[in-house]
Amino acid sequence: MQKHFLVIHGPNLNLLGLREPEIYGSETLEQINQQLLNEALNLQIKLECKQTNTEGEIVNYIHEAFKNKINGLIINPAAYTHTSIAIRDALTAVKIPAIEVHLSNIHTREPFRHFSYTASVCLGQICGFGSYGYLLALQALNQSLNSKLV
Ligand code: DQA
Repeated sequence: MQKHFLVIHGPNLNLLGLREPEIYGSETLEQINQQLLNEALNLQIKLECKQTNTEGEIVNYIHEAFKNKINGLIINPAAYTHTSIAIRDALTAVKIPAIEVHLSNIHTREPFRHFSYTASVCLGQICGFGSYGYLLALQALNQSLNSKLV
């Protein structure tokens, strides 16, 4: 059966392209989503992309993903990575295999970005490769589900 993945982009990622391009690159979120949709087509995966600036909305997306029997999540919780026990708890509750993505290498930036509440409840974290990290996450999630490494 065809796999169905959901990509969740957190706060301020709607500003990609404009926002600190020296850190986050010059591509817009729409361009990144389009690349993901193209790759998903190649891999024969059904993919949806959502963005919100609100913490509770991310929690709701994760709950809906469970109801909609989504097979895998790619999530960039953005600043909520470093603060949100609620998003961590939602991921733990639904147990959907997830990969955390960051455009920047959060480990080489300010100390408050080094810790992630969510990474330890994900299959893995990909950071520091710009928008390419999302494509890596898509391939890794697909591969993990194929090899039942989840
Ligand atoms: C980010 C890194 C976070 O620390 C930051 O708050 C973001 C973007 C990234 O993709 O590099 O908003 O998640």
